Amino acid sequence: MQALLCREYGPIERLRVEEVPSPRPGPNEVVVEVRASSLNFPDALLVQGLYQVKPPLPFSPGMELAGIVKEVGAGVRGIEAGDRVIASPGRGGFAQECLVAADRVMPLPAGMDFETGSAFVLTYCTSLHALKDCGHLQPGETLVVLGAAGGVGTSAIEVGKAMGAKVIAAASSEEKLALCKKLGADDTIDYEKADLRQRILDLTSGKGADVVYDPVGGAQTEAALRATAWRGRLLVIGFASGVIPQLKLNLALLKERSLVGVYWGDWTQHDPQGQRRNIEQLAAWFAEGRIKPVVSERLSLAEAPAAMMRMLQRKVMGKVVVLPAAT
Ligand SMILES: NC(=O)c1ccc[n+]([C@@H]2O[C@H](COP(=O)([O-])OP(=O)(O)OC[C@H]3O[C@@H](n4cnc5c(N)ncnc54)[C@H](OP(=O)(O)O)[C@@H]3O)[C@@H](O)[C@H]2O)c1
Repeated sequence: MQALLCREYGPIERLRVEEVPSPRPGPNEVVVEVRASSLNFPDALLVQGLYQVKPPLPFSPGMELAGIVKEVGAGVRGIEAGDRVIASPGRGGFAQECLVAADRVMPLPAGMDFETGSAFVLTYCTSLHALKDCGHLQPGETLVVLGAAGGVGTSAIEVGKAMGAKVIAAASSEEKLALCKKLGADDTIDYEKADLRQRILDLTSGKGADVVYDPVGGAQTEAALRATAWRGRLLVIGFASGVIPQLKLNLALLKERSLVGVYWGDWTQHDPQGQRRNIEQLAAWFAEGRIKPVVSERLSLAEAPAAMMRMLQRKVMGKVVVLPAAT
């Protein structure tokens, strides 16, 4: 089978598509024939050795996928060869077959195609966990989403709207903000041109935002935190800007604001039942037509490295999907 391989940590350009042996499942593992997998920001960091996790070499990037179960290992219950599934293996998705721990495999929700399924788990689960379990977002509250046209950003707009919030989307270009509007954002801010703090205050009649969803970091974090309301919550999702902000804690004291860390992947290990409830909620919203991943590009394995580089240059919107059977 073919796989995009990282043989050494370093420049993304060194990734190559190679012929490798098909994986075989060990106990409590399954092998999935990958129909589609999707790109996430951490993939681009992982292959450079810049992510918090460093898999043993060689490995294939690709954190989430959709496909058909090819083979199940000993001890696997409730999953059979031929099942249509979605999965979040953490790595290995950019290949024609992927070995996945059985507890990371879920049925493909009814009515969902493989491309949509491959872009569903990581971003939407992160956003629902962040907004519901960590941010306690309430109907009628105001949510500000930074990096709102990106992978997790687009999902946060849709999940925020499904939870009944007023959503303000912030991103770096008119094209990106047009996508956010299409997804249901009530208001938008181009934070490359406007003062983020002032615009949030203007759009909330001076009150400020109740919740900020921040996958970007850098200078925008403090600007957004300063524009939160009494008991506002800033959700720390990630640092796509490459800068981890240093904040003064008087900003938390002054309005009883909270800074809340979000680590969806680890939370699923702490609360597997909570994760099951969330995926059921997301599948129901999908069936009702309230959420749907934005697939902006469909690429072959060989084209994936160039997409990783575009992602690091802020040139990607929504989700990039990789089709391992495509040439
Ligand atoms: N905590 C968790 O559980 C969790 C789960 C999933 C992902 N994450 C994190 O969330 C972050 C976003 O992931 P994603 O897959 O949504 O990425 P993405 O699609 O590339 O979106 C990131 C957005 O960040 C903005 N950005 C600002 N400065 C940037 C820069 N220098 N380089 C790249 N992007 C920049 C871009 O929007 P503008 O151009 O509009 O500013 C971009 O659309 C990553 O840090 C990832 O690790 C965290």
